[in-house]
Amino acid sequence: MKYIVTGSLGHISRPLAEKLIAEKHEVTVITSKTAKVAEIEALGARAAVGSVEDIAFLTDTFRGADAVYTMVPPFFGAPDWKKHIAGIGENLAAAVRASGVKNVVNLSSIGAHMPDGCGPVSGLYFVEKAFNQLENVHVRHLRPGFFFYNFFGNIGMIRHMGIIGSNYGSGANMALVHPNDIASVAAEELSALSFKGKSIRYIVGDERTTDEIAGALGSAIGKPDLKWVDFTDQDTKAALVQAGLPEEIARNYAEMGSALRSGEMAREYYAQKPLSLQPVKLADFAREFAVAYANS
Ligand SMILES: NC(=O)c1ccc[n+]([C@@H]2O[C@H](COP(=O)([O-])OP(=O)(O)OC[C@H]3O[C@@H](n4cnc5c(N)ncnc54)[C@H](OP(=O)(O)O)[C@@H]3O)[C@@H](O)[C@H]2O)c1
Repeated sequence: MKYIVTGSLGHISRPLAEKLIAEKHEVTVITSKTAKVAEIEALGARAAVGSVEDIAFLTDTFRGADAVYTMVPPFFGAPDWKKHIAGIGENLAAAVRASGVKNVVNLSSIGAHMPDGCGPVSGLYFVEKAFNQLENVHVRHLRPGFFFYNFFGNIGMIRHMGIIGSNYGSGANMALVHPNDIASVAAEELSALSFKGKSIRYIVGDERTTDEIAGALGSAIGKPDLKWVDFTDQDTKAALVQAGLPEEIARNYAEMGSALRSGEMAREYYAQKPLSLQPVKLADFAREFAVAYANS
């Protein structure tokens, strides 16, 4: 079959493209950079160079595909981040409509039931909505948990302050997932194309408290006493700005942390349980974390 993968050689899109190619499918990978073409072609995919901001480019690229994997790339330059994310979703949905593609696997997030109050994830609510308005198009929204790789963002804090923390709440239980597992689920959905209408699939590999996370990551880097510290929303935002993020992005991440703390972000996920968990666990990620920490 013929698939279009947005997200270039990103965390999920690369392993996804590799899996689809290994199954002998025809894969086109969208990148915004000409410099990535050779690497994409080396995988055995076709590269399409253009932006998710460009509906005409997306429409041309999508035309004739059996299915498209859609995602909204992170962009920290937006003056209104949620609006930007929603706008990219509208572009992707408009291109699906105009190209006549009938199947979409769309990367969303746990918390995307919240039209407001969940930072960037509330942007994804509107992305889902844009796809849900398409007639005669089957859409499977993937709602993964918190990506393990987000913890790489805490390396500086651990190194310089000897702590790890955020505003997720004392003892918060976090639904965690590895991008490779999301790619496996996306590949499974794209290969089978058995989803009909509009539906949601949650993807989580492990559920751990913030204290367990601090313990596992700390032990992996030789700091078994590493403690998770609870920050206020204000301190979280300030720390993110200090780490170099624009004010708008820091504000949204702090908002998402507060939705995690209140339990609202994961409410629908926990209401769907029991679900089968994906293979990659916190202990597996801790080994990757140790390598990244040592190289930092
Ligand atoms: N972090 C979390 O905990 C979490 C949880 C749930 C959902 N999510 C979703 O996951 C997404 C990230 O997925 P990921 O980690 O697989 O992505 P990623 O690794 O950040 O890769 C995205 C790729 O998109 C390409 N890109 C950037 N701007 C583009 C543009 N304007 N047009 C076309 N392509 C562009 C870039 O590659 P090139 O440079 O080659 O163009 C980039 O490497 C987030 O944006 C969010 O929606 C995240």
